[in-house]
Amino acid sequence: MNRKPSTDASGELCAASQAQPNIALVKYWGKRDLALNLPVVGSISITLESLWTRTSVRFVPGQQGDRVSLNGRSDEAEAKRISKCLDLLRKRAGVGYGAEVASRNNFPTAAGLASSASGFAALVHAGARALGLDLSLEEQSVLARRCSGSAARSIFGGYVEWAHGRLADGTDSVAMPLLDAEAWPLRVAVAITSTAAKQVGSTEGMRRTAETSPYQSAWIDTQEADLGVARDAIRARDFDALASISEYSCLKMHALALAAQPGLLYWNGATVECMHRVRALRQQGVPVFFTVDAGPQLKAVCAPSAIEQVKAALRDVPGVLDVLDTGLGEGARALASDWVDA
Ligand code: DP6
Repeated sequence: MNRKPSTDASGELCAASQAQPNIALVKYWGKRDLALNLPVVGSISITLESLWTRTSVRFVPGQQGDRVSLNGRSDEAEAKRISKCLDLLRKRAGVGYGAEVASRNNFPTAAGLASSASGFAALVHAGARALGLDLSLEEQSVLARRCSGSAARSIFGGYVEWAHGRLADGTDSVAMPLLDAEAWPLRVAVAITSTAAKQVGSTEGMRRTAETSPYQSAWIDTQEADLGVARDAIRARDFDALASISEYSCLKMHALALAAQPGLLYWNGATVECMHRVRALRQQGVPVFFTVDAGPQLKAVCAPSAIEQVKAALRDVPGVLDVLDTGLGEGARALASDWVDA
């Protein structure tokens, strides 16, 4: 059933939502269906708290095409992806007219900080509300997944698992919460080692890996076991077990991508130096582990008591430009105002 569409003073259909990036501890890499954006493997992530995307959507009856502003600027490639995502919502609502979208991130965009995850989760959440679609979180997760795989997980907060699913139509490839953020409030220090946009995006990186990496089948064959270990570690709040499986999954994903042709090398020197720093801290008894996605930033996940020490150690690494600090947060949600300028 549809809910009453949100309207602003001029009677237009609008809504604004916020979502946060998530960081995979057991990684998603590879697709089993390109058109539906279905993954070859399941994955497990944590949703962050203080990094966010805020997105406002206004559907304008009679408007042809969409007008998109990202961090106050237009970006043709991203605008295309956004229009494709809005098309899914328009189809559900049975409307054909265009929208205005204004979206802002409070962190570097497209540099391996999961901006597409928070971006598409916020877009689906706001767009569905603006159109009066009464979608469950699972349905929102499925729609967000169509736009960017990892966005399926940012619909939910805390510890989240996204199933690869078995159905051809992808309706069972949905994310679900494993544990609330407050139940195990770990912290994350993000070492920014470059603010440049990455050279090879995740979608292209996954395609190249599947076509050329000799390790693709080993990656798929070992993922179920990794998910089981991570699930158990989260349920038991077993930091050492989560540290060990997370670094293993991260390095295995990069080994798989490094073996593509041409090899995908997402790290710079500072990324590698940060990995050594994190491991040295752990050897001294500090509860911390690292993970790295398709970009050069390093995320160090730690116990709350260790955050200042971890941040200081990462700041000290040559080539680290900045260190952000966040806890774990909630899933996508409505903002109080129906329109937030970007
Ligand atoms: C390395 O979700 O950005 O961050 O589905 O093609 O949009 P598309 O890919 P995307 O890939 C994320 C890959 C990763 C690992 C992860 O988040 O699980």
